[in-house]
Amino acid sequence: MNINDFLSPEELKRLASALLVVLGFIAIAAFFGFTVVPGLRYQAHDAGESQIRPVQGETGWLDPTDYPATAREVIPPIDPKTVMTPNPVLLTRGKALFAQTCATCHGPEGKGDGPGGAGLNPKPRNFLASSGWKNGTRLEDIYKTLDEGIKGSSMVSYNYLTKKDRMALVHVVQSLGAFDHGASDPKAIASLEKLFASAGEVIPNRIPVARAVDVLCREYAESRPQSPTSTLR
Ligand code: HEC
Repeated sequence: MNINDFLSPEELKRLASALLVVLGFIAIAAFFGFTVVPGLRYQAHDAGESQIRPVQGETGWLDPTDYPATAREVIPPIDPKTVMTPNPVLLTRGKALFAQTCATCHGPEGKGDGPGGAGLNPKPRNFLASSGWKNGTRLEDIYKTLDEGIKGSSMVSYNYLTKKDRMALVHVVQSLGAFDHGASDPKAIASLEKLFASAGEVIPNRIPVARAVDVLCREYAESRPQSPTSTLR
């Protein structure tokens, strides 16, 4: 059996060209459906969004007007001289960070009496008391705490903060307690200095949590236009 028994060569040609036309239409429709339309929708969103989200200072994660989305950046290594001992710039930065990040648990004055720490076991450290510290009170000890957190407690690692910011917090924590925090081990100080001076840091892209939630809700709602979640926002 041969296809030529059913169709003449001319008919075959016509059939083939008709098929080509149909395939062409499908290709064009697919291009619009999958590329052009989503692209236009995406553009439309971006334009609308930048109007309602003014870019301002750096204070928190939950308020999208307070914490602007920031692009990835690379910061160069730091000069140890600027962070190993407290200075006014570092302390100002550290105090702001402390109020924003640590005070919920450790309390505004570092007494371990923040509202977020009330139900915790173990309790947040009281920075005014010299006893009971697990890693210790020396500069390198507190840096270690911020770098690694304390296992088995709600004191987590804060290594998402830059090294400079962590050092700012170390000095603030020490400044809150009037007791002797102990002389640093010169070896530990030397290795910290080497760490700071040798490598820069990459700050990843960041968006505030509220905006991330917004984007997720919107994408979810768009993926199923009839769903009741589209009224969630
Ligand atoms: C979610 C609550 C919470 C937050 C927020 C928090 N901490 Fe803690 N922190 C704790 C708890 C709980 C402990 C006690 C851990 C233990 O005893 O095992 C602790 C202990 C510490 C210690 C003592 C470590 C030691 O050697 O015993 C330091 C220093 C410290 N925190 C610094 C900070 C700094 C600086 C911040 C802000 C960047 C911060 N903490 C944010 C809960 C918190």
